[in-house]
Amino acid sequence: MPVVTFHNEHRTFDAESGSNLRLLMKKLGVSAYAGLDALLNCRGNNFCGTCAVEIVDGKGASPRTHEEEGTLGGNLAVARVVEKNIRLACQTSVTGDMVVKTHPVRPVDVQETKQRIALLGIAAVFALAFLGMFGVLFFDMIKRF
Ligand code: FES
Repeated sequence: MPVVTFHNEHRTFDAESGSNLRLLMKKLGVSAYAGLDALLNCRGNNFCGTCAVEIVDGKGASPRTHEEEGTLGGNLAVARVVEKNIRLACQTSVTGDMVVKTHPVRPVDVQETKQRIALLGIAAVFALAFLGMFGVLFFDMIKRF
């Protein structure tokens, strides 16, 4: 049976091999989430990235998938640096002994974030132009009836 140690909580548990880390943490009363994220998360669907944990010794964790890396990379506006030992608890299976640090500090990738915000700004300008044009056409059409 793999042994999972939660570094910050100073707790160690035996886990069934292949068990999902997020579900294991939930069962053991160790929160993968910080603050309001405990309520505002995607319930393990690899969408929100709020269940990020640091696997100190990663030999007992399943390999990280491409989709997981995408979620770890941040959201539409904010890009995060994806470090090798950061994992999403909901996407990690326990395959051997591991040491887990909850609530790791995840640095923002400033350069990538600036690019994402610039792209969002450009997309917003086009969306407003489209909506304005649509509004003009719509009201013009209404006037004709
Ligand atoms: S709970 Fe949302 S990504 Fe893990």
